[in-house]
Amino acid sequence: MSLPEFYANALAYDIAFGDRDFEDECSFLAWCLRNLGAPPAALHHSFLELAAGPARHARTFARRGWRAVALDLSAEMLEYARKGAEAEGVSLSLIQADMTDFALEQPVALAANLMESFSHLLTNEQVVAHLRAVARALLPGGVYVIEMAHPATIWRDSLPNTWVARSTDSPYFAHLPYTEVEVLFGAEDDPYDWITQQWIVTTRLVIREEGKPPRVVESHHPHRWYLAQELRALIDLSGAFSQTWWFGNMLVPPPPLDCSPASERMVVVLRK
Ligand SMILES: C[S@@+](CC[C@H](N)C(=O)[O-])C[C@H]1O[C@@H](n2cnc3c(N)ncnc32)[C@H](O)[C@@H]1O
Repeated sequence: MSLPEFYANALAYDIAFGDRDFEDECSFLAWCLRNLGAPPAALHHSFLELAAGPARHARTFARRGWRAVALDLSAEMLEYARKGAEAEGVSLSLIQADMTDFALEQPVALAANLMESFSHLLTNEQVVAHLRAVARALLPGGVYVIEMAHPATIWRDSLPNTWVARSTDSPYFAHLPYTEVEVLFGAEDDPYDWITQQWIVTTRLVIREEGKPPRVVESHHPHRWYLAQELRALIDLSGAFSQTWWFGNMLVPPPPLDCSPASERMVVVLRK
């Protein structure tokens, strides 16, 4: 599987998507394991972040004393995550692999695939292979959490999707020279194929780092966002999980997945 240029700029990605409360998100993930996992997994402290990018969730769990593993296809992202973990003095195992085809040496209790990274799985076959690979990496009773866009938002009528992120937005970047990242994630005329259900998404980062000329990184890469019923059918088809819960956000306690304003995301929790 090829990767967009976007992900070869790990620091710019981290600034662009770093304004989130990783502590709270990890508390929700741990809540899922405690409340929806089954013994013995519910008692284990081990976590796998899939399509981990900068691996901020895995690093947060490592800081909490969990055994943490970050898996990504991008060597640049993994190197960035390694340096981050080293700077924070935490232990993080790194695996460079495709999330549709990987194996862990030791299974984990909890796995997560966050921030719409599931949209990199383009075909039904890839989804089923991925779900089976994750289930093999989990302890019996272990839990897998997927965070995706709410189906009501995927038609992307809000395009173009743009924002500006600054290194000063988050304490994580306090040590860096001032850096501004102007992001485009999805252009108005990005082509959508109604049969394969894939978008060719335009991503553009304009990176302005103090004292350096601006850099522009643009790519056009396929993504697929999933509707709830097709995802449900694919989960059933995989035969890899015994129970499924659907939530509308990563909050404790989580709201149900529905069409109310409280339901902002599609969060799927699967128990092996
Ligand atoms: C949205 S980003 C990172 C998400 C990260 N978990 C977060 O919360 O910010 C998606 C990541 O998926 C990785 N990726 C894309 N396709 C992949 C695949 N088939 N297997 C593993 N990683 C993949 C990219 O390299 C990128 O780092």
